[in-house]
Amino acid sequence: MDHFLTRDGELWAEDVPLSEIAAAVGTPVYVYSSATLLRHLSLFDEALKGMPHLVCFAVKALSNVAVLKLLGEEGAGMDVVSEGEYRRAKAAGVPGERIVFSGVGKTRGEMRTALLGGIRQFNLESEPEMRALSEVATSLGVVAPIAIRVNPDVDAKTHAKIATGKSENKFGIPIAKAREAYREAASLPGLKVVGIDVHIGSQLTDLAPFEAAYRKVAELTEALRADGHDIYRLDLGGGLGIPYTRSNEVPPLPSEYGEVIRRTVGHLDCEIEIEPGRLIAGNAGVLLSRVIYVKEGEGRDFLILDAAMNDLVRPAMYDAHHDIVPVIEPAPGAEPRAFDVVGPVCETGDTFARGRPLPAFGEGDLVAFRSAGAYGAVMASEYNSRPLIPEVLVQRDQFAVIRPRTSYDDMIGRDSIPAWL
Ligand code: LLP
Repeated sequence: MDHFLTRDGELWAEDVPLSEIAAAVGTPVYVYSSATLLRHLSLFDEALKGMPHLVCFAVKALSNVAVLKLLGEEGAGMDVVSEGEYRRAKAAGVPGERIVFSGVGKTRGEMRTALLGGIRQFNLESEPEMRALSEVATSLGVVAPIAIRVNPDVDAKTHAKIATGKSENKFGIPIAKAREAYREAASLPGLKVVGIDVHIGSQLTDLAPFEAAYRKVAELTEALRADGHDIYRLDLGGGLGIPYTRSNEVPPLPSEYGEVIRRTVGHLDCEIEIEPGRLIAGNAGVLLSRVIYVKEGEGRDFLILDAAMNDLVRPAMYDAHHDIVPVIEPAPGAEPRAFDVVGPVCETGDTFARGRPLPAFGEGDLVAFRSAGAYGAVMASEYNSRPLIPEVLVQRDQFAVIRPRTSYDDMIGRDSIPAWL
């Protein structure tokens, strides 16, 4: 459930009509609902009730500091994959002991920053990375808490670009080599083994791959304990999928996901960490855009919006579906019309939907892309020299711009012309 509902013939974010935000801030703009973010976070807390746990929001999904602060103040931890994300989490007031550092290519500089600033654990993905972290920690006179990300060779049955748990993917250490890797980790002076990490992919709509992966982690936990390692924390990654259309089948609920965790690793007496991003942020955000033109083509009509692939790249990049809905409800009985929905960027790939039945939109009408809170603003670029668009956070009847639209002067002013030109 989310808090974008139609009231008095128009779409609202909590107690604010989206048309009011469009009028005040302009379009395109991302709009997030605080109540929805918090509700989704609480679903995971409920799902893991009774087990010691920490829900670490995957910052990559939506990294605005205001959003991180909102979640952090509710007790969420953060899963970060770069120094930039680490600094964002810290800027949001999240203490180091609630920040987990994941990612396949952490640099020594990033390791140093996190060790000095405080860190819950590093999730390490290769032997060279283990050696590097041990060196950095030793040079600082500290010991780094670590989990090793194991690759369980499980098919997540999701889009190939966001599956991470097969042996052909770049992620983690093959689970078959894990005992050896842990042996080396335990021998390195700058590391302290605390647990195991796994993440098999994103937008999973079936629990079976999670179940398969977590069973392997449970077996590994016992094997590693038998080898003498003190495994007391399991980071089970993110990846639970969300409904992208209001009509199709519903992905598993966080409560059902929690049951899988309980069933597979609940008996191991470990602290559980999970790293959801999409489920917390996805349906907590919309991208609000305006129709620039309706162009009648040959055999198809184009709805040309002021948002483009640079603002929301998921349809172009993953053929992802986002529901596109009117902000002002069409008159009852109005005939829908099939549109190709496109942006102004000069590429055919700048297409959000083909032949989509929609209300008979006209110039100036407002539309909302649903489910755009996760992997929306964070993946935006300034391609075609289109400045980054603003982000707005709603809380009940208030809203605030939490990132302003980049101005043309700021965008162009970042370039500098060498003296010889
Ligand atoms: N933990 C790790 C180590 C990850 O790599 C990811 C996502 C997550 C947690 C969070 O997964 P989530 O709960 O959000 O599924 N840009 C793509 C998604 C890429 C996901 C990358 N890793 C998209 O727009 O679909």
